[in-house]
Amino acid sequence: MRVGILTGGGDCPGLNAVIRAAVRKGEAAYADTFVGFRDGWRGVIEGLTMPLDVEACRGILPRGGTILGSSRTNPYKIDNGPERCLATLRELGVDALIAIGGEDTLGVAERLGSEGVNVVGVPKTIDNDLSATEVTFGFNTAVQICVDAIDRLHTTAESHDRVIVCEVMGRHAGWIAVHAGIAGGAAAVLVPEVPFDIEEICANLIRRHSRGHYASVLVVAEGAVPRAGTLVTASGEVDAFGHARLGGIGNLLASEIEQRTGFETRATILGHIQRGGTPTAFDRVLATRFGVAAIDAAHDGAFGQMVALQADAIVRVPLSAAVAELKTVDPGLLAVAELFHF
Ligand code: F6P
Repeated sequence: MRVGILTGGGDCPGLNAVIRAAVRKGEAAYADTFVGFRDGWRGVIEGLTMPLDVEACRGILPRGGTILGSSRTNPYKIDNGPERCLATLRELGVDALIAIGGEDTLGVAERLGSEGVNVVGVPKTIDNDLSATEVTFGFNTAVQICVDAIDRLHTTAESHDRVIVCEVMGRHAGWIAVHAGIAGGAAAVLVPEVPFDIEEICANLIRRHSRGHYASVLVVAEGAVPRAGTLVTASGEVDAFGHARLGGIGNLLASEIEQRTGFETRATILGHIQRGGTPTAFDRVLATRFGVAAIDAAHDGAFGQMVALQADAIVRVPLSAAVAELKTVDPGLLAVAELFHF
């Protein structure tokens, strides 16, 4: 079988582990040959490829990013994009395509699947907000990076009697914020799912500091919004999937908290540090299991399906189930985080 592989959307620790696993199993078990598409769907539209075999995958297991490159190119936003994808796949003799991505990349995979492309999806996002899988690889790594940062923020906050607002990724869902907040002992966790009340946050901080705390670290997801519709930040720029570029709520919160409480406050925006670098062991294992399962799915003709983790087993689910709606944070987990806000 000739198998194409692409990685789309924001990069994520573990992408290379998926690619390596699919290629290793495909060559050894099925005598497959592979073609790597460069930069997500752009590579399929424009026929941008790179050789992909076991040799090309040597040493990439622990490496962050993706050897294939990635982009947020959406074929359905480009003239004749879907037709060009079909033509490229036909010309290159691709029998099956493994698309590794989040809701946008997999949404395109689902649509192309209904137009006749033999596609298998692999879920990827540090945000962990994809439905139909309990967890996505990259999430564990991102949370660990945040917790390491929060631990460091605590010692400097304590030395200076400061409040520090730590902004983490999470556009629509606060999975990173709530996990990092609980593991890092945050004095508040603000997520996109629950609009926050700045007055309540300040009142809690004042109460907390009057009880002997002199420093607090708050964790805010980049997509968190205030209850009253104030303090919203977005640059106004949108990508090919219509998402605004976020980032900035942490700074606004910090200045608002300082003004309202009088506590010296700083903001730290972790940004793309959360996406870069080597994956944790957990993410390497999950990504490897997904890669192996994806090549098996292609050989079983399980097209239009995505590999997923459910009850610690790798299963197949329809791509449509994965992209139907976002998986938002479990309220029970938020309730646990809230116990430590005082
Ligand atoms: O989709 C994952 C994500 O990490 C979001 O949390 C974040 O908003 C976005 O990527 C930022 O991506 P970029 O700056 O690469 O467009």
